[in-house]
Amino acid sequence: MTELKYTRQTVTHVHTWVPDKLFSIHTTRDPAFKFQAGQFARVGLPEGDDPAAEPTVWRAYSMVSAPDEDRLEFYSIVVPEGQFSPRLARLQPGDAIYVDKTAFGFLTIERFPQGGDLWLLATGTGLSAYLSILRDPGTWRAFRRIVLVHGVRSVSELAYRDEIESWRAHPDFAEHFQADPRKLIYLPIATREAIPGMPQARLTTLIQNGELEQLAGMKLDPEQSKIMLCGNPEMLSEARKLLGERGFAPGRRGIPGNLAVENYW
Ligand SMILES: Cc1cc2nc3c(=O)[nH]c(=O)nc-3n(C[C@H](O)[C@H](O)[C@H](O)COP(=O)(O)OP(=O)(O)OC[C@H]3O[C@@H](n4cnc5c(N)ncnc54)[C@H](O)[C@@H]3O)c2cc1C
Ligand SMILES: NC(=O)c1ccc[n+]([C@@H]2O[C@H](COP(=O)([O-])OP(=O)(O)OC[C@H]3O[C@@H](n4cnc5c(N)ncnc54)[C@H](OP(=O)(O)O)[C@@H]3O)[C@@H](O)[C@H]2O)c1
Repeated sequence: MTELKYTRQTVTHVHTWVPDKLFSIHTTRDPAFKFQAGQFARVGLPEGDDPAAEPTVWRAYSMVSAPDEDRLEFYSIVVPEGQFSPRLARLQPGDAIYVDKTAFGFLTIERFPQGGDLWLLATGTGLSAYLSILRDPGTWRAFRRIVLVHGVRSVSELAYRDEIESWRAHPDFAEHFQADPRKLIYLPIATREAIPGMPQARLTTLIQNGELEQLAGMKLDPEQSKIMLCGNPEMLSEARKLLGERGFAPGRRGIPGNLAVENYW
């Protein structure tokens, strides 16, 4: 019998952020499943209604959980006409979910020379990968400051905001804030609703007009800054172009870069 490429796991918890649009799911984890913060898993479900059937539909999901957590956590959109995400959204604790044995992806801090400032720029569920990266204490030691920008349509979609804002007092991270109160600069940005004190604009607009740097209180400096981009593919290509003009480029042929990009669709 050939060995399966995936393991069967169990859903342990489901959290709804925005009904019918955004949710998180916790599952058990195969102890042999290893990954680096920022990588993604291939997650599988059966196509039909028989929950005991073998998985036939697979999608990529960035891990939200840190590499050392006992469980896996994913953060997902519901694409109403999608083949996979509405099924995922219907899962309940106790249900089966399948996870490929291998983790994939290069949106990891190992891509960059360590040091300088890390800028994590996301729209929508692109935040997922950054949560794993930020839950990993090694990230906090590797960079001087971290800027996390989460661009969403409306305020209710600022998932994980409470967790992010609680890190200031978290035993793993508090020492960093004691040494530098601006160790993590979190910038929640909504495009279709006003957030007091924040511009109501797209991430790309804020890069272009310099407001992102003003909000962060730091320059996007190709010598010092390392940037990750994750989320909407059109945002990625526009941001890549804008940042390219500022001296940011992915690494290639052994030359370390200062830009890493993950396309979600
Ligand atoms: C490397 C990688 C990591 C990913 N990580 C995540 C993740 O952590 N969370 C997550 O929700 N999705 C993630 N995705 C997308 C995910 O794989 C699925 O595409 C998504 O869940 C929708 O599946 P679906 O079958 O319902 O629709 P699909 O048929 O897969 O997609 C249909 C359409 O829905 C839109 N769409 C797809 N994904 C998203 C999204 N995340 N946000 C907004 N619109 C979307 C696009 O217009 C797409 O063409 C990731 C994709 C890749 C390649
Ligand atoms: N009611 C709903 O909206 C609803 C309900 C259920 C499911 N859905 C699903 O959710 C999907 C959308 O998910 P989402 O809101 O997380 O993703 P999104 O459309 O990518 O929007 C997330 C953020 O990215 C911004 N953005 C989009 N394109 C950009 C670009 N080219 N450059 C810079 N910023 C850009 C958006 O700004 P803008 O606001 O300016 O576009 C928004 O602030 C839909 O495709 C649908 O399948 C939607």
